[in-house]
Amino acid sequence: MSKLAAAGPNADQIEFWNGEGGEKFVRYQNALDLMLKPFGDEAIRRAGVKSGEAVLDIGCGCGDTSIDLAMAVGVTGEVVGVDISEPMLARAEYMAAQSELTNVFFEQADVEAGPMHADSFDLAFSRFGVMFFRHPVTAFSNVHTALRKGGRLAFACWQALPRNQWVSIQMQAVLPLVPPPPPMGPEDPGPFSFADQERVRGILSAAGFTDIAVEPFDTEVVLGGMQVLDDAVDFSMELGPAASLLKDAPSDVRDQARATVRAALESHQTKRGVMLAAGAWIVTATKK
Ligand SMILES: C[S@@+](CC[C@H](N)C(=O)[O-])C[C@H]1O[C@@H](n2cnc3c(N)ncnc32)[C@H](O)[C@@H]1O
Repeated sequence: MSKLAAAGPNADQIEFWNGEGGEKFVRYQNALDLMLKPFGDEAIRRAGVKSGEAVLDIGCGCGDTSIDLAMAVGVTGEVVGVDISEPMLARAEYMAAQSELTNVFFEQADVEAGPMHADSFDLAFSRFGVMFFRHPVTAFSNVHTALRKGGRLAFACWQALPRNQWVSIQMQAVLPLVPPPPPMGPEDPGPFSFADQERVRGILSAAGFTDIAVEPFDTEVVLGGMQVLDDAVDFSMELGPAASLLKDAPSDVRDQARATVRAALESHQTKRGVMLAAGAWIVTATKK
């Protein structure tokens, strides 16, 4: 049971990430970390992390990037990972204990709910943890407050769905079989809510950031980090927008969907696994 009440503007996100969403992320943690690593590595590279720095990892989830950042800042620096998800933070604590790092800490907090640790961080970082705010300007204003003067912001977020075949390929396979998803506004919280780079610039600028840069990072990912086709199909049936569409589908429709998803993925199977295109933005900005 989460200590963070599912209340306020992010109530549905708090519920999701403390329930089904968080549990699935924990279950598939190794696979997801493998798949998302190139994006985190690129954002860390562009953040220019230095030894001794204090870093805030926003929406740190199961802590993979918090641990990478803690290694990058060394024993004279420290990393605080914040997230709304209790199950994911429990996993992060476990991973940090395994790594025997003493400079990484985790807190359960809604970044949108209030300023955290004013003037405390040199860098605010995130790997795909910033697209779920109901009021992103409020959330980024809180991040801005948490940074010291001259502090930097660096995060990875997804480009539009058509640039992310690792999600769209299953959607195309499943959509003919299920009722259409509820209409979603381009600014509604969700994985693709920062697809429009002008929107991202507007949010950061309104939150007080300057020197805003939004640069594409396009690569191929191993779907779900899985080498075996059927494992990648299982992953697709469990996580992501196509899995959501199938949530309440009867078993015969799920069986049919599984077959169409498998057929769609098969031609992308390589020795490394199912390789699909993925496009992110790497966003950087400064607090003057
Ligand atoms: C797609 S996951 C990314 C997790 C992690 N950064 C990674 O790369 O594996 C998004 C994360 O954002 C967190 N999150 C969503 N809304 C949040 C909020 N308002 N405040 C803090 N964390 C939030 C979720 O709980 C989840 O862990």
